[in-house]
Amino acid sequence: MDLHLREASQADIAFARSLYFETMRGMIEPLFGWDQRHQEESFAGWFNVQQASIIVADGRDVGWMQTRTSEREVFLGSLYVIPDMQGLGIGTQILRGLIAQAKLASKALTLAVMKNNPAIRLYERMGFRLTHEDEYKFYMRLAADAPGAPAADQAGFS
Ligand SMILES: CC(C)(COP(=O)(O)OP(=O)(O)OC[C@H]1O[C@@H](n2cnc3c(N)ncnc32)[C@H](O)[C@@H]1OP(=O)(O)O)[C@@H](O)C(=O)NCCC(=O)NCCS
Repeated sequence: MDLHLREASQADIAFARSLYFETMRGMIEPLFGWDQRHQEESFAGWFNVQQASIIVADGRDVGWMQTRTSEREVFLGSLYVIPDMQGLGIGTQILRGLIAQAKLASKALTLAVMKNNPAIRLYERMGFRLTHEDEYKFYMRLAADAPGAPAADQAGFS
């Protein structure tokens, strides 16, 4: 599978919003209920097209992610793959690339994940470790000098 990232543009916002709702509703609704208007407002508040990238597999848009880079770390705010392409290794490959880039920049990678999200297994497998938690989320971190992270030339995407 040819996998790469491209910068998101205004034209991608509808795709990003609907994929976010499609993939996360099943985890959000049991805990908080689902108020479409509230969810739309919340999404509009945190989505940032300049920090978003579209995941393209064999020429097809199959997901997106959003990262925010600060002096010492890269925060992975979002990572979503369309349902019929989940479980095929795309998320793993994207994370490998992110880890390689963060290591090259000597930055840690951080994220937050809902406690009922099976993606926790993926993050643990990739080397993220729990730093703290609140009622609904685990907060995880992969240090810049963490062992076992992939080399830059194995990043898997450009
Ligand atoms: C999480 C996600 C980005 C991973 O991408 P992927 O291409 O499916 O991941 P891979 O095939 O490389 O790895 C499989 C792992 O992804 C996770 N995963 C697979 N399907 C998932 C799903 N529907 N929801 C959440 N995590 C899932 C699991 O940890 C799985 O590991 P396991 O086989 O040990 O259970 C993708 O599954 C997804 O978009 N899930 C729904 C949205 C989501 O939860 N995003 C993360 C928010 S923090």
